[in-house]
Amino acid sequence: MSIVLLSTLLAFASFSTSQSQPQNIFLLAGESNIVGQGGVVNNKWDGVVPPESGPNPAVQRLNAKLEWEEAKEPLHSGLNTGVVNGIGPGIPFGIGVFGDNPRLNVIGLVPSGVSGTKIIDWQKGTKAYNQLITRAQAANKSGGFIQALVWYQGESDTVLKADADAYKGRFNQFIKDLRADLDSPFLVILEVALASGIGNFTEEVRQAQLKSGIHDVRVVDAKGLELEKDKVHLTTRAQVRLGEKLAEAFR
Ligand SMILES: *[C@@H]1O[C@H](CO)[C@@H](O)[C@H](O)[C@H]1NC(C)=O
Ligand SMILES: *[C@@H]1O[C@H](CO)[C@@H](O)[C@H](O)[C@H]1NC(C)=O
Repeated sequence: MSIVLLSTLLAFASFSTSQSQPQNIFLLAGESNIVGQGGVVNNKWDGVVPPESGPNPAVQRLNAKLEWEEAKEPLHSGLNTGVVNGIGPGIPFGIGVFGDNPRLNVIGLVPSGVSGTKIIDWQKGTKAYNQLITRAQAANKSGGFIQALVWYQGESDTVLKADADAYKGRFNQFIKDLRADLDSPFLVILEVALASGIGNFTEEVRQAQLKSGIHDVRVVDAKGLELEKDKVHLTTRAQVRLGEKLAEAFR
């Protein structure tokens, strides 16, 4: 989308409905690293929130009751993520997206990650997929335009070669169905290329992510970002950096 068109859209959006409902919506989905495991050690979050992770009055989140509230860490708290929630990339991303233009309206984050999911668990009709659609539609109904999906997933697809080989096709199908169901054929996808995996096929999944071959997918490479001792999850500092990189990619 051109910058002029985007600005026009945002300017229009900021005058069209009440101030309290975010009008620029970002969906966040995937597995544990989008949920956020920064600062989680031995199933306990250390409670440390860096200044880059807010709270910030310009960033709201859709909670488990489908209501807007000021976003604070852990961003996925109250949602059924299947894991102890820690620091993720969402809030630094949200602050970074429109942070340098205070005239733009508040943005709304829709955290929807589910830990331990494979890409096949996000195909149309699955529980995770349906929940993502329900939350996206609720955010849209309250006046929001869905600007992008932030997608960080694939660690669970690195164990079996068959899953790694199927990653590209399953991802493309997921995006195709999501765009159709949200009636948003050009929905921007900010896809994170894996920093880690739990099996031996991480590089295969990364290659699929780096070359998805579908339009309006922007890849942000997480390789090299600092990991927790489990060698799978990004640290708090790494999540902040990732959030900033994702915001750069969107702008
Ligand atoms: C959300 O709702 C508005 C109407 O209020 C619509 O114009 C927009 O395209 C919808 N969909 C998305 C994906 O934002
Ligand atoms: C990865 O490969 C090594 C060496 O072949 C093997 O011992 C190990 O079990 C594999 N790991 C997984 C998770 O399959």
